[in-house]
Amino acid sequence: MTLDLKIDGPDSNHRADDLPQGVLGKASDRPDGWAKVAGSATYAAEETHDDLLHGFLVRASGVGTVNCPNIDAIKEMPGVRAVLRDKRMVRNAAQGTANKAPVQGVDRAEYVGQPIALVVAQSFEQARHAAQTLTVTISSQEAPITPEAVTPETPEDKQTIIGDLEQAMSDAAFQINAVYTTPSMISAAMEPHAATAQWDGTTLTLRGALQMLRFNRNELADSVGIDPAQVRILAPYVGGGFGSKLGISADCVAAALAAMELGQPVRVVQHRRQVFEVNTRRSETRQHIRLAADAEGHLTGLGHAALVSNLPQEGFAEPVLQGSHFAYAATNRSLEMQIARINRPAAGSVRAPGEAVGVTAFEIAMDELAEVTGIDPIDLRLRNIPEKDPESGKPFSSHRLKQVLKTGADAFGWSSRRAAPRQQREGEWWIGTGMAAAFRVNSIMKAEARIRLSKDGATVESDMTDIGTGSYAIYRQIAAELLGLPLDKVNVRLGDTAFPPGSGSGGSVGAASTGSAVWLAAMEIRNQLATRLGCREEALTLKDGGATFDNQHQSLGDILTEQPLVGHGRVEPGEAAEKVRQSTFGAHFAEVAVSDVTGEIRVRRMLGCFAAGRILNLRTARSQCHGGMTWGIGMALTEEMTHDRRDGHIVNRDLAGYHLPVNADVPALEVHFVEERDDWAGPMQAKGIGELGICGAGASILNAVYNASGARVRDLPATPDKVLAALPN
Ligand code: MOS
Repeated sequence: MTLDLKIDGPDSNHRADDLPQGVLGKASDRPDGWAKVAGSATYAAEETHDDLLHGFLVRASGVGTVNCPNIDAIKEMPGVRAVLRDKRMVRNAAQGTANKAPVQGVDRAEYVGQPIALVVAQSFEQARHAAQTLTVTISSQEAPITPEAVTPETPEDKQTIIGDLEQAMSDAAFQINAVYTTPSMISAAMEPHAATAQWDGTTLTLRGALQMLRFNRNELADSVGIDPAQVRILAPYVGGGFGSKLGISADCVAAALAAMELGQPVRVVQHRRQVFEVNTRRSETRQHIRLAADAEGHLTGLGHAALVSNLPQEGFAEPVLQGSHFAYAATNRSLEMQIARINRPAAGSVRAPGEAVGVTAFEIAMDELAEVTGIDPIDLRLRNIPEKDPESGKPFSSHRLKQVLKTGADAFGWSSRRAAPRQQREGEWWIGTGMAAAFRVNSIMKAEARIRLSKDGATVESDMTDIGTGSYAIYRQIAAELLGLPLDKVNVRLGDTAFPPGSGSGGSVGAASTGSAVWLAAMEIRNQLATRLGCREEALTLKDGGATFDNQHQSLGDILTEQPLVGHGRVEPGEAAEKVRQSTFGAHFAEVAVSDVTGEIRVRRMLGCFAAGRILNLRTARSQCHGGMTWGIGMALTEEMTHDRRDGHIVNRDLAGYHLPVNADVPALEVHFVEERDDWAGPMQAKGIGELGICGAGASILNAVYNASGARVRDLPATPDKVLAALPN
């Protein structure tokens, strides 16, 4: 039986508040933790078969028409079984939904690094050697490589003009008018993209490194030209995604085609440089921000114009303005997007697409406004909290910016801060603090899950993935809580399209969306138990494997027969998404030291305070925020993908040249939550937290850099050269 829920309105029952098992919300371990630490959790590149063949992707070395003049000789090399140059091979690394036609083929390269062939051989070494021996020639065509080289598109549906910003700017008591830039960035998941494909008659089984299996299945079927019912995808363990595994990747399609042609299983693993070039990056952005304020610091005008880039025909544009639409009140508003069509690797979603860079730039601008108005940065934000969505007029489902700002400020010790820059010095180091607000849109996605309850315990199944986020842990808690079972009596099985389709891991929707489906499946089983026992579901207390109802007690073992109870849950977004504006909120605080001699920045401590509805697992939620704040350090200080200005190729395409924060860069990170119930967020009143932690995090650091040293850096990352140039003499 299926329990269906369309989220049309608020749910103020708060059933999860007083369930007796007491496991939901706790800092619960990951059931997959041991397998991962012990190495028994296998990843896509470790999948093996007796007759496994190895495929190696070949990439384009330029933009233009591609030729492989020695392809016939390569086919004769030792161990080589095939050199595939199939148009279907290179799907656009889509954004979770199937595009009907591939954007890129193999005959023309749109960017340096585009896969244009797959060499398949008996051994990995033979495949790699042959791939490196394959000559790739490019008849170069002039292609735009930098955003400045083209007239950008101005998509009509991405412009919001309300009131008269120009007038507001000229009438303003205070104004900010500045340009901020952020570079190309990479998801940099630890696990490289990899796939092993195997055909059994007309059925394709693919072990992949993917985030959104229900969509990936359609994309793969569409690429290969078969029915989705013929495709099974497995991804029980995924070593990080951060957006780069949202769409089907080149290794998957190539492996599937090669396995079909050769009648043997084929594995394709991207090496690190391929991971950088072949998968989607975060677009560079140029953001022109204008703020107009009255004498009390109330915003009267707000302008945010963003220029981003992508390949010709790509549907995705980094949604830089997503947070600016609702973060602050201002009557006069101008939010404009432009897209430059250039021949750099495809741009797509990278952790918190939009707000990660948009809120970061905007929160630096807010710090600049605080400076010129002489208003404390927290106070400035409090004065500009909108009563309702400033553009649509819809109410907020819940709004906790004020609470996270105050709780965070107290925990950080904000009140002892010196407002003026350059007040504290230790040797060569200027010391200072800064803050920024965080916003991230929230939504529920369609999701299904199934639970079987037998005498031995419960099994939860969904094709949902766990990309290191804690899905296994959270669904175990939800099922255990509702069914009154100890955690070790609940087994969670994920990452298999043979299971009911979950939400997938994207847009921070996994915990609340697939979690709600698990909730509903468990609720359906509670209904069945109540019917069997002749009581109302609400009268049923399930705890530690026993059922108490109407002054009676029975163990589940006695109630259940050999036939397990099966509950199916399905959730989908309804009118709620139209009726209210829904967001999560946060406040970041940072203390930094800035060398007056070298311009080096050291983050000394960071504190984040977040509100995202009910926190389902304190430990995994905190870990998500630690991760987001760490990415904030990278965005502020070091992360930058450099494109060669001649052909757009990524110069620093490995983890030695692309500087992610490592342990030595990351100080103690403190995370606090403001617990809340967002009634519009489904049966658990829980929102997504995965991406909130990065939004604005880098701004708190750069605002602290200004407070410490007086250096205002608007061109991210704030490398020492930029800091030195910005330091007051
Ligand atoms: Mo996320 S960037 O939607 O994986």
